[in-house]
Amino acid sequence: MKNVAIVGATGAVGQELLGLLAERNFPLKSLRLLASSRSAGKKIKFKGEDITVQELRHDSFEGIDLVLSSAGGSLSKEYMPSAVKAGAVVVDNTSYFRMNPDVPLVVPEVNPQDIKKHKGIIANPNCSTIIMLLPLYPLYKAFGVERIHACTYQAASGAGATAMEELRLESLALANGKTFQRSVIPHQYAFNLFPHNSPYNDGSPEKASSFAPTGYCEEEWKMVAETHKIFGDSNLRVNATCVRVPILRAHSEALNIRLSKKASVAEIYDVLRNAPGVEVMEEPSKNRWPMPIDATGKDPILVGRVRIDQSQENAFDIWVVGDQIRKGAALNAIQIAELI
Ligand code: A2P
Repeated sequence: MKNVAIVGATGAVGQELLGLLAERNFPLKSLRLLASSRSAGKKIKFKGEDITVQELRHDSFEGIDLVLSSAGGSLSKEYMPSAVKAGAVVVDNTSYFRMNPDVPLVVPEVNPQDIKKHKGIIANPNCSTIIMLLPLYPLYKAFGVERIHACTYQAASGAGATAMEELRLESLALANGKTFQRSVIPHQYAFNLFPHNSPYNDGSPEKASSFAPTGYCEEEWKMVAETHKIFGDSNLRVNATCVRVPILRAHSEALNIRLSKKASVAEIYDVLRNAPGVEVMEEPSKNRWPMPIDATGKDPILVGRVRIDQSQENAFDIWVVGDQIRKGAALNAIQIAELI
């Protein structure tokens, strides 16, 4: 039985963490909910009981065994060392520690063995990376992968609960011929889409809305670097184009994968049907393949539309959809916590 703290408990991922702790009957001795001073004193229901939200402080972690942190990179940078000092193990859902060589970056279906190497902090990967790796890893093991190219269609939830609310309100306003004042989303989002706006460099405000000199945005580069770290294979060629689409909480990805060994479409389906955390979902005769609404609120990563890429040798296209808040964030973190 563990004493658990959720940092960012009022946020989109924090709320999902709470739901998953209850749903999966996580062995809890106590649960501490931490957020900003704006939320301190607010009551949140957990298994029928009210828990009062406390303000996150450096001394918030006394007696805590496990911290599930999801309040943003700069807060993790500032507060998670205090959690480790207090003796807790942290599963951090922000990008801050992910590429730190002392911090394992874990997808339980891919590299659970890396958890053992932790020195107090384990990082939860980027949502688009997790969703890509669930179907990719079993194919990598079965046939080898020479190159993967991903195009993503990313939901608002990746930018947090406020972004989801802005998308809802902007959609309502524009549908009714009104204007809408955005605060966290940089461009019109309802009835529009835009290349991912992740800042290239978290720590430097002057670069906060720019792309890297290579032309990649940070989200695209995370998919490259994090895949290398999780697979332990920096030779794998990975490329991505990330786009935000007006969807609330499930990401879609079009993956183009060049395999090292020859494989048939049937063999690929076979591997995907047996892949942990993956579900093949399609009815081609009804023109039916996974959509964001199919994955919303669900655990598995849904896949379909496996087809031969006619333009090159030994390459395939796969359509992948997964709930960003669930397997892309909270569920992956809870699975890591369960393994700990
Ligand atoms: P709050 O609701 O009090 O602002 P999301 O990713 O959905 O936007 O959620 C972000 C989470 O991070 C929320 O729980 C939010 O709490 C929390 N948070 C934001 N700023 C701070 C802060 N300065 N200290 C602690 N928690 C914070």
